[in-house]
Amino acid sequence: MKEENHLHQQSLLHLRKIQLQHLFSPKKLNSATTYLFFFAVAYALGFLSSYTIIQQTTPQLQSPPQTHISDSELFRFNSTCADPVPSKLVRQTLLDRLFNGSSPFDAFPPPHAVSLLRQKRIKGWGSTGAVFETLIRRVKPRTIVEVGSFLGASAIHMAELTRRLGLKTQILCIDDFRGWPRFRDRFRDIKMINGDVMLMYQFMQNVAQSNFTEVILPVPFSTGSALAQLCDLGVHADLIEVDAGHDFHSAWADINRAYSILRPGGVIFGHDYYTAADNRGVRRAVNLFAKVKGLKVIPDGQHWVLA
Ligand SMILES: C[S@@+](CC[C@H](N)C(=O)[O-])C[C@H]1O[C@@H](n2cnc3c(N)ncnc32)[C@H](O)[C@@H]1O
Repeated sequence: MKEENHLHQQSLLHLRKIQLQHLFSPKKLNSATTYLFFFAVAYALGFLSSYTIIQQTTPQLQSPPQTHISDSELFRFNSTCADPVPSKLVRQTLLDRLFNGSSPFDAFPPPHAVSLLRQKRIKGWGSTGAVFETLIRRVKPRTIVEVGSFLGASAIHMAELTRRLGLKTQILCIDDFRGWPRFRDRFRDIKMINGDVMLMYQFMQNVAQSNFTEVILPVPFSTGSALAQLCDLGVHADLIEVDAGHDFHSAWADINRAYSILRPGGVIFGHDYYTAADNRGVRRAVNLFAKVKGLKVIPDGQHWVLA
């Protein structure tokens, strides 16, 4: 069967060959002009058909959208701050600009809040780590800015250290005192009235109970706007601790803004260098910042220090 098919195909091929030879034999095409005519027609037909195929099948190549943004746009924070206010005027400058010239601790707590506060309720994370004492001893800061204070655990620890070392230090605590969504799952005892959580009042109560109302001052705004305001006012710091939002973008913005108010020779450090939270946002922000500024990251327990 297989052999029969083969013979049949062979005889068909032979027949086609004879037909072609007959069609293009010099007897039929008896002049060079006729050859040239057929050649030209065939060439033209071939060219036209191939052109049409290319037109139909070649996908339209589009240039990629132009998304190039200059690097400086991504790294632009206000880096030129007002001339530094002398350290001894820092507290009064903030009282004047943020609190109508009086201390928020005057007549604290207000009568309506008394029953809502615990006498002292402190909770922090790594808030008494060795890094605080090491850096305070080294820098001897006149002004400390803490970015993220919560109930004041680390701020009160720093105040105790500066007092013990005989330093006249002012500690500014930037926090919106909102905590984070659902933080009350773990802190039910922090009262809430009409959606207003008593975090700032409990922070202030802890500070008052620890006798640091002259040393620690809350700066109750978002980290971005508070740091920008300090920069505009010329309030610079010798030591800055960053411990607010842990996602990359929050940490990145906080570190950049905080760095702009760091005095020459000052130190910036922070918490959660090794935490996996928020996709290791803090570590990525710290490492990128160090790379951009040519600084070195020195891990210290869960803390990072830039040198
Ligand atoms: C981890 S706690 C700080 C703990 C504190 N440093 C300690 O060790 O005791 C983080 C704090 O950052 C504050 N925070 C987070 N994002 C903030 C933002 N964008 N602006 C102001 N405060 C913020 C929260 O309200 C919270 O109190």
